[in-house]
Amino acid sequence: MVQLTLPKNSQMTEGKTWPKPAGATRLKEYKVYRWDPDTGANPRIDTYFVDLDDCGPMVLDGLLYIKNKIDAGLTFRRSCREGICGSCAMNIDGTNTLACTKGMDDVKGPVKIYPLPHMPVIKDLVPDLTTFYAQHRSIEPWLKTVTPEPQTEWRQSHDDRTKLDGLYECILCACCSTSCPSYWWNGDRYLGPAVLLQAYRWLIDSRDEATGERLDNLEDPFRLYRCHTIMNCANTCPKGLNPAKAIAEIKKMMVERRM
Ligand code: SF4
Ligand code: SF4
Ligand code: FES
Repeated sequence: MVQLTLPKNSQMTEGKTWPKPAGATRLKEYKVYRWDPDTGANPRIDTYFVDLDDCGPMVLDGLLYIKNKIDAGLTFRRSCREGICGSCAMNIDGTNTLACTKGMDDVKGPVKIYPLPHMPVIKDLVPDLTTFYAQHRSIEPWLKTVTPEPQTEWRQSHDDRTKLDGLYECILCACCSTSCPSYWWNGDRYLGPAVLLQAYRWLIDSRDEATGERLDNLEDPFRLYRCHTIMNCANTCPKGLNPAKAIAEIKKMMVERRM
């Protein structure tokens, strides 16, 4: 379980308990972080009751039920509702994960939901990912080549393609980076597990011709070397990926090129 720390703008006050849906017999309790910058009030935890006979099985279904039927002001991100877009990442029951792939049944007792930890909050469950995306852009996550472009496509052997397995599946949800203590304390300078996994994805792509330049870009006491192998990242990734392993591989490449 990821240690839960409150989002950066936090001094909690008591929240509101919303009425139970009339006539419902099977209820699931939700306790949800609320903060509205427009009111100037402290964050609070609101309590809602979801009618399980009128709602899908996932945590995101419960949030949509609340938004559609109880409290239209509740704010969160979601898009694909099938674990592909990464936008519904939040802290559920003490773990960073995707609301659309987390079953309500997996949560014993009330479903407690906070935004991703240690990020500035824009509103309610919506974290500000501006720095995270800028860091992703800084590793230039696209194919870089110097040889003339082929007429049809950049070819890759089957074996080289399999080297991207366990990397290309990353949906940039930020669950890993926001569970990483090194990223919590040095998030402005340490790139964090998600972005470093992406960096490694391009470093080992056989079609890419900028390996040296990419390694130079990471050779820095903070950008790469703040990983202390605590493994929160691998434990929390909802896609089952292992960013810590990718970071170790980058460090190995750094050593090998000095030999
Ligand atoms: S490695 Fe996993 S947790 Fe991290 S951003 Fe990618 S999909 Fe999300
Ligand atoms: S293994 Fe490294 S990147 Fe992953 S949580 Fe620990 S310090 Fe962060
Ligand atoms: S809504 Fe897209 S990953 Fe959850």
